[in-house]
Amino acid sequence: MKLLVTGGAGFIGSNFIHYMLHHFPHYTVINLDNLTYAGNLMNLYPVQDYSNYRFVKADICDEQTVQRLFADGIDIVVHFAAESHVDRSIKQPEIFVQTNVVGTQVLLEAARMHGVKKFIQVSTDEVYGSLGPEGLFTEESPLAPNSPYSASKASADLMVRAYHETFGLPVNITRCSNNYGPYQFPEKLIPFMIAQALKNQPFPVYGDGLHIRDWLHVEDHCQALSLVIHQGKDGEIYNIGGQSERTSLEVVEKIASKMNRPASSIRYVADRPGHDRRYGIDASKIRNTLGWQPEYSFEKGLDATVDWYLNHIEWLESTRSTESGRFFAEHYGNL
Ligand code: NAD
Ligand code: DAU
Repeated sequence: MKLLVTGGAGFIGSNFIHYMLHHFPHYTVINLDNLTYAGNLMNLYPVQDYSNYRFVKADICDEQTVQRLFADGIDIVVHFAAESHVDRSIKQPEIFVQTNVVGTQVLLEAARMHGVKKFIQVSTDEVYGSLGPEGLFTEESPLAPNSPYSASKASADLMVRAYHETFGLPVNITRCSNNYGPYQFPEKLIPFMIAQALKNQPFPVYGDGLHIRDWLHVEDHCQALSLVIHQGKDGEIYNIGGQSERTSLEVVEKIASKMNRPASSIRYVADRPGHDRRYGIDASKIRNTLGWQPEYSFEKGLDATVDWYLNHIEWLESTRSTESGRFFAEHYGNL
């Protein structure tokens, strides 16, 4: 089985490559990634010399290179490559359309021409918009994206759907809630707060801090994706979520307490424009039809994650590129 993993140098993609090479050592994995600020080859150090792993540095929008890769024979595409950060999409929406929409279409076209057996679109619960205090997102919830990021992911999902309906491409779309764990770029809530704590810097909490996310450990997401690859019914959408809803304030307070930082380090800062209030996933379809069961409780997963970053300071240092440094300075200049 030959897998093409796009965005495999990023957070979830690299965890997924580790997961697959560990559980399916007879598979071959090709990692296609153009190494944006979020891509980091250090994430793949443990597997980089495996004979069944290959890294290709290229843009998913580069049609010629993508077509050449598919011509070598690809069985399954697992498509993670994306611009993934909501705050960046508010500052610079264009690149989100280019990578997330155009890039997905380039891959779909190559997958169609070369007859791949499965195309997995790794999408997000954010395509459903925001929930009130009650209810959960199901696979039937209407698409109502609120940020340029989520709008670009919803657009890509629709293109994936169209390739299934029109050309019969065997696809699945997965929509997962907020992931956390090793190798997450420290612009996202959990690794960012850990990095702030390590520098004795304050914790910027957007708005009133009562925005709710449904947290899932990245390994549980990888396990769900593996089930979808092997048993998912063509054309189906699968929601994936941890039944672990927490406010951002609760998450930050837990990190502060674990890292012995005073509650006074919390700073309420200007809210994110269009900030979704609550996400909550109904994952009963993947649980009931594919037998998925997450292993981590949020408390166990967060403890393990804080410990991982404390033991990988050199990895955190490696993410402080000039570009991301500039973004942070601009974004948090008011602290
Ligand atoms: P990430 O930002 O950590 O990684 C994205 C990767 O894609 C990077 O390695 C980057 O170099 C690569 N990439 C970006 N543009 C590219 C291009 N044009 N060509 C080739 N490679 C490119 O993202 P992540 O958090 O690992 O998310 C991966 C996927 O999962 C995304 O599609 C995202 O929408 C989805 N998702 C993320 C979460 C989450 O909580 N992080 C939850 C649900 C779904
Ligand atoms: O729900 C899945 C999505 O989760 C993925 O599709 C996205 O790729 C991923 O980035 C994530 O989006 P969020 O916007 O939910 O994640 P983020 O880590 O940016 O923020 C989580 C919550 O924490 C959100 O309510 C905003 C808040 N926050 C975030 C940061 C970075 C703060 O209060 N302060 C911060 O400094």
